[in-house]
Formats: sequence, structure tokens, C-alpha cells
Amino acid sequence: MKVRLLGIPIEDGAGRMGCEMGPSAYRTAGIVEAIAELDHEVEDLGNVTRGPLPTITPPHPHLRRLPEIAAWVGTVTEAAYRASDGALPVFLGGDHALAAGTVPGVARRAAEDGRPLFVLWLDAHTDFHTLDTTQSGNLHGTPVAYFTGAHGFHGCYPPLSHPVPPGNVTMVGIRSVDPAERRALSGSGVTVHDMRALDEHGVGSLVWRFLERVAAADGRLHVSLDVDFLDPSIAPGVGTTAPGGATFREAHLIMEMLHDSGLVSSIDLVELNPFLDERGRTATLMVDLLASLMGRTVMDRPTRSFAA
Ligand code: ARG
Ligand code: MN
Ligand code: MN
Ligand code: MN
Repeated sequence: MKVRLLGIPIEDGAGRMGCEMGPSAYRTAGIVEAIAELDHEVEDLGNVTRGPLPTITPPHPHLRRLPEIAAWVGTVTEAAYRASDGALPVFLGGDHALAAGTVPGVARRAAEDGRPLFVLWLDAHTDFHTLDTTQSGNLHGTPVAYFTGAHGFHGCYPPLSHPVPPGNVTMVGIRSVDPAERRALSGSGVTVHDMRALDEHGVGSLVWRFLERVAAADGRLHVSLDVDFLDPSIAPGVGTTAPGGATFREAHLIMEMLHDSGLVSSIDLVELNPFLDERGRTATLMVDLLASLMGRTVMDRPTRSFAA
């Protein structure tokens, strides 16, 4: 499968600046070479540029950079749709607001190909706020509500052509949920595996169960990996660290299982803030995780298959 890299230097959705440098840091960390080494064809499309600012009357005064994010969402949706034509796109963030564009873009692609889209959300946070519930006003806290078709974005973000059914979304690594998000999630159909569930059942069985569901539906799978999914001790280069995150091996195991499944059709790498990183170690770890997802293994091993 051909791999296409697309840089999306959004930082307007995050509370602190620096995510704009994310795509450059991944390239410096050798992302192109890491993928090419695994015998994939790689094409780096460079970075997208945001379209013109729309005129929006913000429904609440504390929403930060709403016109900028609305413009990014439109631009990114279109770019993600195009990048997913006959290739596996890897979207290099940029803050998590970009998923309000990448997911709708690849959802349109999947729909046109007659396949259901599933989303694996690897994050400390659920990013399930609407424009009416976010208290911080940081719009990287809103993409999942938007792309699953929640109300409260009308007249602000672009109208959504292909919402993802909430039942197709599974979150893993969750450990920071605001009260309004918790209320909205309950009964939404979204599957949330918090850190407690990971500790108790292990990532292996939780992820395997989800992958079996995707395979049974002949689905496509978008993976959205937020740096803060990882424990801050191994991934300090992010503005929204939360203690008690995934370990090095838990994260690699998920990536290895995703590779073996053969189901992944698009990937976001988001929230890397190189300004907060320590000598590039977080960027390097994210590239190594992507390499695991693309087939890097310690030893040769037989491929596990879903054929029942
Ligand atoms: N729930 C918090 C907020 O809405 C944190 C969101 C963090 N999101 C992220 N993509 N890092 O402000
Ligand atoms: Mn996030
Ligand atoms: Mn997060
Ligand atoms: Mn492979």
C-alpha cells in the first residue's frame, strides 16, 4: 500500500502554541525513511495551507480562534479526501482539531467506496465537547462530537456530509473527561476504554475485540493517535499531559496488532509540541510507533489473521 504524508500545521485549537512545528519535527525525526525502510512506497505531499477565514458569529465569546478552526476544518476535509484516494494517508499534526477534518474526509472516501468507517481514538481525553459545552474554549477538545454528528456546530464548522456513527468509535487510554463530556458520552454509543479498563483487561484483548468488530463489518479504520495517550514520562512533548498514560510496550503492542489486522486505512499523529519536547524524543517515539503500525517487528513472525 502506498503511504502519503500530509502535514497539517494547526495550533489554533490547542491552549498553547507550538503544534505548528509538529510536521517538521516528524520529518526531522526521519518519518519518511522509517516508512520507506519497511518497503512501502512513500509520498510526502508537504503541508496544507488553511483557506480564507469565514465570517462567523461565535455562539460563545470564549471559543478560541473559531474562524481559524472552521477554515482549517474545511481545508483539511477536502485535503484528507484527496489524500486517501488509493493510498494510506498519515496526517502529521498539528493539534487534535485537525481530526474534525481528517475523519470527515476519509469518511466520505469510505462511503464512496461502500465501506463503513470505524475510528480508534487513542487519547487521554475524549475530545467530545460541543461549542456549547467546552469550558476551556480550546477547540481541539471538540472533534469527536463534530464528526459523529452532534448538534451545536451549525453555522460554525462546515456542514458534515458523512457523519461517523458513534457506535463505530472506540476510545482507548482515556483518563481526563470533563463532566459535560461524560454526560454526552453516556448512551451515545461510543465505546470508552479508560485506563482502569486497560489495567484490568490489558490493551491486547480490548483492541483485539474492537478489530474483530471492524473486520466483521468489512470496515475501514482510521486511527487517531494523540501524543498524550502516552505516559508523560516517555512522551513529554505535548501541551496537555495527563499522568498514568500508556506505557511504551502497551503503545507498541497496539500498533503491532493494528499492523497485523491489515485494517488501518488512515492515521492522525497529533498534539506533538516540539517546543515542549526533550531533544526530539517524543517525535522519535511517535515515528517508531508509526513504524510498528507499518510493519516493523523485532523478529519475523507469522501474520495473525481474522479468517475464522
Ligand atoms: N477536555 C479539555 C478541554 O476541553 C482538554 C482537551 C484536550 N484535548 C486535546 N486534544 N489534547 O479543554
Ligand atoms: Mn486529543
Ligand atoms: Mn489528549
Ligand atoms: Mn505491512
